[in-house]
Amino acid sequence: MKLRIGIIGLGRIGKIHYNNIMQRLPEAEVTQVAELRRDGLPTDLPFVEIDELIDNPDIDAVIICSPTDTHADFVERCARAGKNVFCEKPLDLSLHRIRQTLQVVQETGIKLMLGFNRRFDPNFLKLRSLVEEGKMGEVQLVKITSRDPGPPPLAYLKSSGGMFLDMTIHDFDMARYMMGKEVVQVYAEAAALLGGEIEEAGDIDTAVVTLKFEDGSMAVIDNSRKAVYGYDQRVEVFGAAGMAKVDNNTPDNHQYFNEEGAQASLPLNFFMDRYTESYLTEMEAFIRACKDDVAVPVAGEDGLQAARIAVAALQSVREGKPIQL
Ligand SMILES: NC(=O)c1ccc[n+]([C@@H]2O[C@H](COP(=O)([O-])OP(=O)(O)OC[C@H]3O[C@@H](n4cnc5c(N)ncnc54)[C@H](O)[C@@H]3O)[C@@H](O)[C@H]2O)c1
Repeated sequence: MKLRIGIIGLGRIGKIHYNNIMQRLPEAEVTQVAELRRDGLPTDLPFVEIDELIDNPDIDAVIICSPTDTHADFVERCARAGKNVFCEKPLDLSLHRIRQTLQVVQETGIKLMLGFNRRFDPNFLKLRSLVEEGKMGEVQLVKITSRDPGPPPLAYLKSSGGMFLDMTIHDFDMARYMMGKEVVQVYAEAAALLGGEIEEAGDIDTAVVTLKFEDGSMAVIDNSRKAVYGYDQRVEVFGAAGMAKVDNNTPDNHQYFNEEGAQASLPLNFFMDRYTESYLTEMEAFIRACKDDVAVPVAGEDGLQAARIAVAALQSVREGKPIQL
């Protein structure tokens, strides 16, 4: 029998999950959708009010893709209704609220998976498996470049919690995932170099963050909200026995040369293109965990740890010093 899924929020990311389930994951189906704004969406979607979706005994699992400031509330309501939940990152902007939500998850015994999709990207999976096989020896340094092609709209920025909790949180999770260790210290430099709406919203758009892990190993992350050449997503892992890295994916790998120089294709434009495969694989993993009643591969605790690093990074920028976790 197919896993019956309800989706809350059918914006940029909700549509990706909806399409993957309906078109490419035959073991599940989306049977209900709760969405406040229906303009531009097909009218034949199974729209319902949110309470109806959460309380529906014929829904097995819920995918939460509404704005960040709704996540904790919706996770708790789903948990109390006995539904397994896949929730987009971050769980909330407040660590206290995240801990409260994880408490409800624990008490109700539901499964909660966080949408750290980059762990499921085939390139990063390969990198992680090289680390696990010991090919780099003891890992000493992880270097992550993570730059968006352009900033999100102001309305999104306002409920996003700022760049560290919205965007860099993926990189904090990637650093933990690659290292397989916990972060003990965070130091961040950040600025609003693009100015405009981002600065007016009190947010930042450019940052360098250094992380120190429990054994003294390190990670360095650099971010920008605007890379004019596309979505720049690179990771390098350096250790005592070698180095491995992942470069950007491009639509093709041609190179053109003439007397003026060389030319190649730019990186794939944004997350919908670059991480297509990862969204499918993460959802497949969630559906499998629900159907086989096994642990989800990215837990609520991973959401808490990444959010702790994000909050510490912000504190580091404000106080101009490293923050111990
Ligand atoms: N994992 C990723 O790569 C990734 C990528 C983008 C966004 N996200 C996360 O997903 C969430 C949504 O981001 P987005 O870019 O899709 O935003 P979006 O604004 O495109 O979509 C959000 C949708 O939720 C709807 N909505 C708002 N309140 C609602 C409610 N109470 N009930 C039902 N629907 C409601 C809105 O009408 C909108 O259509 C954010 O938390 C964001 O951090 C994750």
